[in-house]
Amino acid sequence: MSVESLAAAECIDVAAAECADAAPVVARTKAEVRAWVAEQRAAGKRVGLVPTMGYLHDGHLSLIDRARETADVVAVSIFVNPLQFGPAEDLDRYPRDLERDLALAASRGTELVFAPSAADMYPEGEPRVSVLPDEEIGGRLDGGARPGHFRGVLTVVAKLFGIFTPDMAVFGQKDFQQAALIRRMALDLDQGVRVEVAPIVREPDGLAMSSRNVYLSPEERERARALSRGLEHGRALFAAGERDAEALRAALWKALEVPGVQAEYAEAANPLTLEPVATADSGTVLLVAARVGRTRLIDNAVLS
Ligand code: PAJ
Repeated sequence: MSVESLAAAECIDVAAAECADAAPVVARTKAEVRAWVAEQRAAGKRVGLVPTMGYLHDGHLSLIDRARETADVVAVSIFVNPLQFGPAEDLDRYPRDLERDLALAASRGTELVFAPSAADMYPEGEPRVSVLPDEEIGGRLDGGARPGHFRGVLTVVAKLFGIFTPDMAVFGQKDFQQAALIRRMALDLDQGVRVEVAPIVREPDGLAMSSRNVYLSPEERERARALSRGLEHGRALFAAGERDAEALRAALWKALEVPGVQAEYAEAANPLTLEPVATADSGTVLLVAARVGRTRLIDNAVLS
């Protein structure tokens, strides 16, 4: 199946009904997106947006399904955003397969896929004005481990919100701090986008789905289970009555003590501010990050 046959670019200018069972419209430029959004609005349709970096898996697809519950038409953006990668990170080797992504997006009835180039997203190069979270909420956990990461994420999501002006957008709980920051950005900057957060989709053995899981060798894939196993253990301790957050953190660290796994953080935090808590409650979030070989993995669980 070629990209062209999936692209159905001719659909961009015709009534949506004529394209009911067609592959998604593929927009390469912001102008194409704006024209499509204007058409949807004129037809009284609510627009849902699912921002991704592609190499779609069932976690991403669950966000499309979730968007479909409230929105009339669903757009998926696929853009490996250079601004959110550090100089020593995996920007160059990040997995990409647009043809496969288009087929997967089509399988869930996605109406439009926006796949811009870096030059189209950042025509002026590095932005001179960007969105920065404060240190309290954005400087710890992944913000501490990946300096500049959330500036890159929030800036590109703010741009996507500006390009699509979606009624709603869906993000995954998998990237808990990212979702919390995006919620807060929409609120603090009055972006008028309803931000929804969907649950983590996992492999049968518990590993949280991630585009980066393809980096793992079979041995690393086995070791990677330490993250979800640790969170399950933390959950079980909480269910059994443990409320001392320090004890929960210690249990997470211990679960990550596996040869070939380098723990980066293990935290019990407030779900809104990401501040470490002293006492765990229903709603407290357990968060872990670890390197398995060269691959950095994150996972979390909300206690209830
Ligand atoms: P990406 O890693 O491609 O993830 C896109 C969306 O899918 C995010 O909201 C993420 O939380 C969600 N997601 C990833 N794995 C998931 C899983 N196992 N279950 C449920 N949802 C999952 O996150 C990004 O891209 C980027 O930072 C982005 C927001 C697109 C900005 O560039």
